[in-house]
Amino acid sequence: MTDTPLTQSLEYARANQARLLEKFYEFLRIPSVSTDAAYQPDVHRAAEWLVAELERLGFDECAALPTDGHPVVYGEWLKAGDDQPTVIIYAHYDVQPPDPLALWQTPPFEPELRDGKLYARGAIDDKAGVWGNLIVFEALLQTTGALPFNVKVFFEGEEESGSPSMAPFITANRERLAADLLIISDGGCLPPTPEIIYSARGIISAEVTVTGPEHDFHSGLGGGVLHNPVHMVAKIIASFHDDNGHIRIPGAYDGSIPMTEAERQKFAATEDRTIQMIKQSLGDFRVWGEPGFGFMERSARTSLDVNGVYGGYQGDGVKTIIPAKAGFKVTMRLAPGQDPHDIARKLEAHVMGFACDTVDIAVKIGKQAGWGVLMLQDGPIIDALDRAYQAGWGQAIDFTRTGGSIPIMGMFQRELNLPITVMGFGSGALAHAPNEHLLLDYFQRNIDTAIHFYHALPQAISG
Ligand code: BES
Ligand code: MN
Ligand code: MN
Repeated sequence: MTDTPLTQSLEYARANQARLLEKFYEFLRIPSVSTDAAYQPDVHRAAEWLVAELERLGFDECAALPTDGHPVVYGEWLKAGDDQPTVIIYAHYDVQPPDPLALWQTPPFEPELRDGKLYARGAIDDKAGVWGNLIVFEALLQTTGALPFNVKVFFEGEEESGSPSMAPFITANRERLAADLLIISDGGCLPPTPEIIYSARGIISAEVTVTGPEHDFHSGLGGGVLHNPVHMVAKIIASFHDDNGHIRIPGAYDGSIPMTEAERQKFAATEDRTIQMIKQSLGDFRVWGEPGFGFMERSARTSLDVNGVYGGYQGDGVKTIIPAKAGFKVTMRLAPGQDPHDIARKLEAHVMGFACDTVDIAVKIGKQAGWGVLMLQDGPIIDALDRAYQAGWGQAIDFTRTGGSIPIMGMFQRELNLPITVMGFGSGALAHAPNEHLLLDYFQRNIDTAIHFYHALPQAISG
């Protein structure tokens, strides 16, 4: 291999792997759980840790910018010059709660390497995206003294809690965030084939509470004469789908941009590998869902899931009561084109349609809301990313949608009208689950891929 800036950067990232891994451990040890207020100081500590790292790399304007929620870690490197493009690089430094703790083989915030797998909460989702980019910046800066384009780093601290304060933050920082492209470094391809994600679903959430008698009441006295709130909860939940999983809330699918026939076919062709991927973490599973739609298309359409339900006695043995209260949490995934506020109103109206004189029903729509997105699907940037994956992984990519959501994508798209693409570093398994782990070999391939991609980007954006 001839010695070029590109090969030097690749070489640097490999030569410094052990030291950079140690540093990654430091970051993984900070329990930056965004959903749980008890971890708030840790989220801030993680933000400050990242600000210090960006400063060490020579970025300017480094700061943990306050928001109504958790800080945004910002830093910029604009020394590529006015004639070069500017790219926002996004990742999130917050993580999911580690529960259930008992199921972890080693503690979630004490990273451990076993068989080439790095176990820790956030190891893939999405500290890999944050740290992977910092490695790439360091490799480029240390070998070439520069980055190939102007960079604005945006590390979010509340992605896993639905980005409740990001929309106003982006609106308030429009100028600062002006750019030619947004790269989302979240998620990560699984072996054997890298993939480029060109669409993600939107999301809304709600909590429904049903209250009946003022307190739990003897069911010998109350049975037959009091309306049981658990029954109402069951009735509402049962009304959400027909027997086949089609959502029965009027207007639930409104606004969905239909797939073209060409896409439907290409997308359907990724079914086998997606099923394989799910099997890697779930083992054999039984498929359910709307008839008339293939497995893949169902995973990209509107969906509704009750995420938790409570009410009444859960302990051992019998307890003869009419419970005072019951409720559930629900989220809907939205197809691109659907307005989260519109669908939230329709969900609320549907639930309130059960209102009656004998129990009280309340719906609280969550602040977490995000539009689904369609991102870059072809053109020079995607070609450059494809070539980068071929260089990094030695394989051609698959194109696909994810059923997951990154609420901020829609905010960026709608507020800043930026082209978006995804290049994640988190290749591994069990995101959001116990024993989340990063496959280090593939993490390294992603670093290689990003170095190739970033080298090729200026040309791809302006040419
Ligand atoms: N990284 C995921 C989303 C994702 C999944 C991106 C697969 C690319 C491929 C993200 O961190 C996530 O978990 N999002 C949440 C959002 C929610 C908490 C509002 C989700 O999809 O459940
Ligand atoms: Mn993520
Ligand atoms: Mn996540």
